[in-house]
Amino acid sequence: MVDYDLQDIQERCRDLILSEEQLVEVKQRLETELNRGLSKEDHEDASVKCFITYVADLPDGTERGNFLALDLGGTNFRVLLIHLGQNCFDMKSKIYAVPQSIMLGTGEGLFDHIAECMANFMEEQGVLYEELPLGFTFSFPCQQEGLTKATLVTWTKGFKCAGAEGKDVVQMLKDAIKRRGDIKIDIMAVLNDTTGTLMSCAYKKHNCRVGVIVGTGANACYVEKLENTGTWKGPRGPKAPQRMVINTEWGAFGDNGVLDFIRTVYDDEIDQNSINPGKQQFEKMISGMYMGELVRLVLVKLVQENLILGGHGSDMLFQRGNFFTKYVSEIEGEKKGEYNSCRMVLEELGLGHANDRDCAAVRYVCECISRRAAFLTSAGVSCLLDRMGESDVTVAVDGSVYRFHPHFHDLMMLKIGELSPHIQFDIMLSEDGSGRGAALVAAVACRLER
Ligand code: BGC
Repeated sequence: MVDYDLQDIQERCRDLILSEEQLVEVKQRLETELNRGLSKEDHEDASVKCFITYVADLPDGTERGNFLALDLGGTNFRVLLIHLGQNCFDMKSKIYAVPQSIMLGTGEGLFDHIAECMANFMEEQGVLYEELPLGFTFSFPCQQEGLTKATLVTWTKGFKCAGAEGKDVVQMLKDAIKRRGDIKIDIMAVLNDTTGTLMSCAYKKHNCRVGVIVGTGANACYVEKLENTGTWKGPRGPKAPQRMVINTEWGAFGDNGVLDFIRTVYDDEIDQNSINPGKQQFEKMISGMYMGELVRLVLVKLVQENLILGGHGSDMLFQRGNFFTKYVSEIEGEKKGEYNSCRMVLEELGLGHANDRDCAAVRYVCECISRRAAFLTSAGVSCLLDRMGESDVTVAVDGSVYRFHPHFHDLMMLKIGELSPHIQFDIMLSEDGSGRGAALVAAVACRLER
């Protein structure tokens, strides 16, 4: 194995490596922001909104029945039919693409598309004439006023449908269904994917208190004592719920400048070229929508400074969006010193002239970006764990980056352990939280209604 001297490259990437002190600072600043989001006085201006989800009861494993679930929030839209039985979880689902024209069209257009997919799916499954309870996973920042009322605050992750912000998405779905007139559904709950992830894991692990997504977007929810939620408008006291799942929307952490001390020129560039400049700064440093592009920006810089590839890039490399986030996982999945996948990626990008040293440099850049994402997520989780102060907690995680990156889980275990040394924790992949979680929230709501 050749060990390349990458000193000049490492020097160039120094800003992407966060020190222990910086991570502790990130954690402390998040704590301040969470308190602002939860406070009645500061909520309005807070960037980390800490929305109340109205999910107060975690599943106890006795939930039963047939449910429909909708899952909108990433690159795809899914409809699911879920059967919760004793010790079994039967699930049929279908994925539908959300074309760019719909992502950037109108709110009505989006919900008509959703209703159409749903009707097709119900027909295929032979349940067109049934009125099934439905859980709707809608993974964008929403101000909730109850389990079935969620006002979209702002779009994220490349969506921008006109005329939807400020509206209740449950009502928009109902209106679209009414416009069709061929199906009936009973919307029991609208939830965020982080809540679904938490619920899906809590069904099996009763000490699960945190749900994290590291996918197209980034976010977390956790269980908070009601007494700490100044924004709660409902009843308090012994008969009221004692705890509540809070959707932090930590993707927006840093939108008020508190992360400027660690943001780099690459982060600025990502932000400026995005559809939502100035928004979702934490998310832009972490999630799959931006990870590959961050790597590409660093590589372009290194080429321009004649530090890699003999100073020769390619049209592909110089064009936005061409370094896919999945490349990061593929490249880092190889044994150190082996560059087969790396070469394939570089060839796809028209960089067949890369030598082994170039491959080592590309891998190094990928590592810097993905480690930073894993460590920032860890700082966030560690903040929540310290805040809850429970001794043994399971953290449920889902999302494409966490799932497919070969080291993300281990990096998180390591860093959370360092940042919260006194708390026992485990991190669990939450299998399909957005789908199952939606059914579970709907099921718990049905149970309570009965
Ligand atoms: C959204 C969150 C969501 C996260 C992960 C973010 O862009 O604002 O609501 O949970 O992505 O999907």
